[in-house]
Amino acid sequence: MLDLIILSIHFFICFLISIAIWRGAKDVDLHSSSRGAAEMRPDGLIFIGKEEDIKKSGRITAKIDGREIVVFYHEGKFHALDSRCYHEGGPLCRGEIEDINGQACIVCPWHKFKITLETGEGLYEGINPLEPSPTPQWQSKGVKQRIHKLTIDNGSVYVCPPDLSVSFDSDYFAEKYKNGGELAMGKQSHSEAAE
Ligand code: FES
Repeated sequence: MLDLIILSIHFFICFLISIAIWRGAKDVDLHSSSRGAAEMRPDGLIFIGKEEDIKKSGRITAKIDGREIVVFYHEGKFHALDSRCYHEGGPLCRGEIEDINGQACIVCPWHKFKITLETGEGLYEGINPLEPSPTPQWQSKGVKQRIHKLTIDNGSVYVCPPDLSVSFDSDYFAEKYKNGGELAMGKQSHSEAAE
């Protein structure tokens, strides 16, 4: 009887350990590192990370006053933008970067919207009635995603606090996921979000 109890406890512990491992693996973001809440300098600049570390990882996520942002290092340049997509809040920090007409764009992992890293413009393929073309061309919907201004100082990367007097479509989702969101973004897959 004692053997049976010990065996049951053993299986129960193994079960708990496998759940912990499974959950941990699901949360890992292989492409990026995460800093959590950011630190502010006396001049207002917010420290995001060391230049060399971001160059190595290619991207990093951080929170500014609860707001999720992502900083990419791509082809020799840093870009910072809201991490929640302006369309429905998809985690841009997990997207792939594509070149579209010479512009580096992040492709949202949820519905594949393309957003330029440099300006935050949403791109779509269509025919401009003012300049008709036989095939659809890439067009801009205007700036949809909030871009954050970056400063590099002495090997460290900083962002300026966002100017909230100007609004962008992505603000809605930045606010929605503020404080309650999961910065690692791996905790909510697209299919989970659609449920
Ligand atoms: S949430 Fe990003 S494309 Fe839909």
